[in-house]
Amino acid sequence: MLDQLEQIEREALSSLEVVQDEESLQNWKVAHLGRSSPLMGTFDRLRDAPKDQRPLIGRRANEIKGVLEAAFEAREIVLRQVAVQQALESERLDITLPGRAMARGRLHPATQTMREIYAVFAEMGFQVYRSREVESDEYNFQLLNFPLHHPARDMQDSFYVEAESDRGDDPILMRTHTSPGQIHAMRENAALNPENPPPIRIILPGMCFRYEQVTARSEMQFNQIEGLAVGYNITLGDLKGTLGDFARRMFGENVRYRFRASHFPFTEPSAEMDIECFVCGGEGCPVCKRTGWLEILGCGMVHPVVLANGGYDPERYTGYAFGLGPERITMLRHRIEDIRSFWANDLRFLEQF
Ligand code: FA5
Repeated sequence: MLDQLEQIEREALSSLEVVQDEESLQNWKVAHLGRSSPLMGTFDRLRDAPKDQRPLIGRRANEIKGVLEAAFEAREIVLRQVAVQQALESERLDITLPGRAMARGRLHPATQTMREIYAVFAEMGFQVYRSREVESDEYNFQLLNFPLHHPARDMQDSFYVEAESDRGDDPILMRTHTSPGQIHAMRENAALNPENPPPIRIILPGMCFRYEQVTARSEMQFNQIEGLAVGYNITLGDLKGTLGDFARRMFGENVRYRFRASHFPFTEPSAEMDIECFVCGGEGCPVCKRTGWLEILGCGMVHPVVLANGGYDPERYTGYAFGLGPERITMLRHRIEDIRSFWANDLRFLEQF
């Protein structure tokens, strides 16, 4: 039996030498160290050996088991190193190849337009004021001179944050325009010096939300940039001058524009500003609906009620405000036909800008 053991060891070690991969290594383990291997069989057959030889055979069998286990582990390490070597070999980099160009990220077209607008107004001395997107009915409507239940509210259908509100006539909603920021800004500023509130010249950018039918021209979420100037002796002439300057800086020195009377509860008088259609040069085309003009914003002199709600005495202060839609302006400049493209996250659209 001792001779048999020596042979078992020899054969096992020599067959291990030709093992070249993980699978064969595991097979080898089963064949030479597994339950049905010749070596393990020796332990079973120990009781058949003469009694005086049993300890010797048992010791030798254990030694061989230890040798085979160590050989297995050593082989495993070698094979692993070979595998790593092969992987490195196959993934070898050819550092002489030219590099791959990195795809450059870019700003969303609406963000690009907004930043241009910020820059134009910054040059005119306007600061950016950020206001909240979730508002109360009071700020979004009531303080802006929209009476409760007044039909003017239908102009801006709202998303309410709480279906069942215990706030009565002052439910929480997503702001429908950036105008409630006017009240926040005025109140904050007036609190600095309630007797003589300091003048204000700000733009208020941000997302607005309306419960609207989504169409090629109207989204239910869109940006607005509000403008507000409050101080002594601010006139309609200042408003027209500022917006005319804005149009020239934004659309070019020769842009033609006009103001049309309009109505907003929070401005009096109110107007809308059109620029001459740059697709047809004012001749009339489908883009301008054959009018020759494109509307870009709403504006007006801040209503005395709104000034008072903001903490500014309408007897001493006047102001103007305007609100424009950057997506609509971007559409006009790039002749984008469908406003839904802005938030569809389609790279084929976004990569064009
Ligand atoms: C207002 O929201 C007023 N708060 C603007 C204003 C401010 C007037 C200050 C006077 C003084 P209006 O609903 O017209 O007005 O919206 C203003 C601009 O927001 C529009 O000219 C348009 O560019 C953009 N806008 C309005 N609704 C949508 C919509 N559903 N999708 C995309 N843009 C929109």
